[in-house]
Amino acid sequence: MARRNKVTVVGAGNVGATCATWMAAKELADVVLVDIVEGAAKGKALDLLEAGPVLHFDINIVGTSSYAETADSDVVVITAGVPRKKDPVTGQFTSRDDLVKINQKIVGDVTKEIAHYSPNAIIIVVSNPLDAMCHVALHESGFESHRVIGQAGSLDTARYKTFLAMELGVSVRDIHGMVLGGHGDTMVPLPRHTSVAGIPVQELIDDEKLQAIIQRTRQGGGEIVGLLGYSGYYAPAAGTVEMVEAIIKDQKRVIPSAVYLSGQYGYDGLYIGVPAVLGAKGVERIIEMDLNDTEKGMLDYSADAVRSVVQVLGY
Ligand code: NAI
Ligand code: 2OP
Repeated sequence: MARRNKVTVVGAGNVGATCATWMAAKELADVVLVDIVEGAAKGKALDLLEAGPVLHFDINIVGTSSYAETADSDVVVITAGVPRKKDPVTGQFTSRDDLVKINQKIVGDVTKEIAHYSPNAIIIVVSNPLDAMCHVALHESGFESHRVIGQAGSLDTARYKTFLAMELGVSVRDIHGMVLGGHGDTMVPLPRHTSVAGIPVQELIDDEKLQAIIQRTRQGGGEIVGLLGYSGYYAPAAGTVEMVEAIIKDQKRVIPSAVYLSGQYGYDGLYIGVPAVLGAKGVERIIEMDLNDTEKGMLDYSADAVRSVVQVLGY
């Protein structure tokens, strides 16, 4: 009898629970939602399960703090982590380096459990700082690098397309393009490779407006934090589920993803966002685009920014 697909989502917070919601709506797989706070995982899983009879999805959704229940997952999404916090006494935010260390410990511990119970899984990392946390998951899992992927480009590209569609007054469906680089304000939107139903975007929008959209994309995460007081989760979860679906259904989708480069684009031993073919084996191919000097310069700058965070990990 055919076995149903199984996806574990670690972290039942905003991004994790929203990933579970959309995977359920798409009936992609049975879902195990894990959180260190057991009640949150169990409560959200049960609440979501109870939506099935109304929305007509029929999958198993389990909430737990026990990794034994995640055994033999096909895909594991890691969203566990803590955000930057303000010290009530000093008013200072957690330093970037302290945040890296805190989330390194969380993602590291989670990854060891995942690797133990699901040795054949494909891991999609979402926790921030994204590119560095991919290094942690790779290091702690011992998996081949094609089975450890980071979600960033899917979200950053979605934001870029949204802003272009808003400006041009056309359907987001007809915007094609990609955002590469690290997940942060050094990311690299590629206007030269952006089109509206095949028409180069630069023919449809003046450069000043395009540059403003690029800048808004780079600050897209911060824009949501400024509005909500915490980070976004609908679009981040949508970007993540797009990757899960590509893997579960072996779709061979070309999705800009944080992947481990060993020489491609001139970088060795670094996670950074580039176009990747995602299918049943995880990263099935890395596509090396022909970037011009300006684009490569921006990617180099972004790679330097990622490296400066990765070096805090101390590997
Ligand atoms: P959240 O705070 O709502 O959820 C995080 C969850 O992780 C909490 O439920 C917490 O209890 C859980 N957790 C903490 N330590 C754990 C552990 N050791 N084991 C299991 N669970 C643990 O945060 P949110 O908004 O869901 O964001 C999650 C992460 O994703 C953050 O690091 C955030 O910065 C990142 N993020 C990344 C994006 C991307 O594009 N890569 C986009 C949006 C968020
Ligand atoms: C975002 O881009 C904070 O990484 C998160 O929304």
